[in-house]
Amino acid sequence: PSSDDLEYFDAVIADDGKIEPRDVMPEAYRKTLIRQIAQHAHSEIIGMQPEGNWISRAPSLARKAILLAKVQDEAGHGLYLYAAAETLGVDRSDLYEQLLSGRQKYSSIFNYPTVTWADVGVIGWLVDGAAIVNQVPLCRCSYGPYARAMIRVCKEESFHQRQGFQSLYVLARGTPKQRAMAQDAVNRWWYPSLAMFGPPDSDSTHSEQSMEWKIKRYSNDELRQKFVDMTVEQAKILDLELPDADLTWNAERGHYDYTQPDYDELMRVIKGNGPCNRQRMASRRSAVSEGTWVTEAAKAYAVKQSERMET
Ligand code: 3HC
Repeated sequence: PSSDDLEYFDAVIADDGKIEPRDVMPEAYRKTLIRQIAQHAHSEIIGMQPEGNWISRAPSLARKAILLAKVQDEAGHGLYLYAAAETLGVDRSDLYEQLLSGRQKYSSIFNYPTVTWADVGVIGWLVDGAAIVNQVPLCRCSYGPYARAMIRVCKEESFHQRQGFQSLYVLARGTPKQRAMAQDAVNRWWYPSLAMFGPPDSDSTHSEQSMEWKIKRYSNDELRQKFVDMTVEQAKILDLELPDADLTWNAERGHYDYTQPDYDELMRVIKGNGPCNRQRMASRRSAVSEGTWVTEAAKAYAVKQSERMET
């Protein structure tokens, strides 16, 4: 089969190979990828807001420099992912438009407020930790540009996760007030972090097909379990408690048993009714309108440069 028939597509998927932008692919595969990659890109961009909230108030110059670098990395991930989505024949300005009109989603997790400095550490540890568990398998996703983008993104996410862990490690060994602040942040972010993996497998609309196409390599529940097992051990080193009295090792399963997050809450947040949805979208809208002059200047400059090249 050649790259312009669907037999080729099926053969590549069966053989664990990569589909590339010019290969023929089922329309539903293209649409699924656009949906997932765009949602992922939007999450990176909106995800800059909760932590950006603390850049001007970081407790030291070193913490400020680290946080600035991390938030800039998220912007880079977003741009990288929009570029990956564009290989599927969409324009990023349409994707921005769909985010602003609410037709495309972004991760539920970024609709929770960052009320203390410890929240920044917990986002690094738990939110970026969950993002890594979800994204490492995406490095093996069947669509080449997405898989390749994920390799660099995961390396940077690992740095983000470690800086969060280290920041919390310091707080957990600080004054009683700092320790209490770290514990309070863990208590508030644990369940929303578990919910990041999406609805349970029984309610996941896309998992089965996405796994058949090898876009997703593991189901939502499999990844959630992997995250729990990994995080319990890290919490012991931090000497912080995960807020789940039922968290117990199950020798038969070889995994920790744990309390599920509130999926009704997840659905409310996804539908736009989380604590910060309106604020996040309002900030995004004003960033677009206040940044129009920059975009226009950059476009005018690009036109001038290409005219100069022609002469
Ligand atoms: N937040 C918002 N929407 C969610 C969600 C969440 N946590 N979990 C699921 N959904 C949505 C899905 O998009 C889908 O809605 P749609 O049909 O309208 O698009 C619906 O709920 C049903 O869920 P499914 O399980 O059927 O959806 P998927 O198969 O797409 O699985 C996913 C959901 C696991 C999030 C998958 O899309 C995925 O792996 N995406 C890529 C990774 C990603 O987007 N991560 C977001 C966080 S990025 C991040 O954390 C940045 C870091 O720097 C902090």
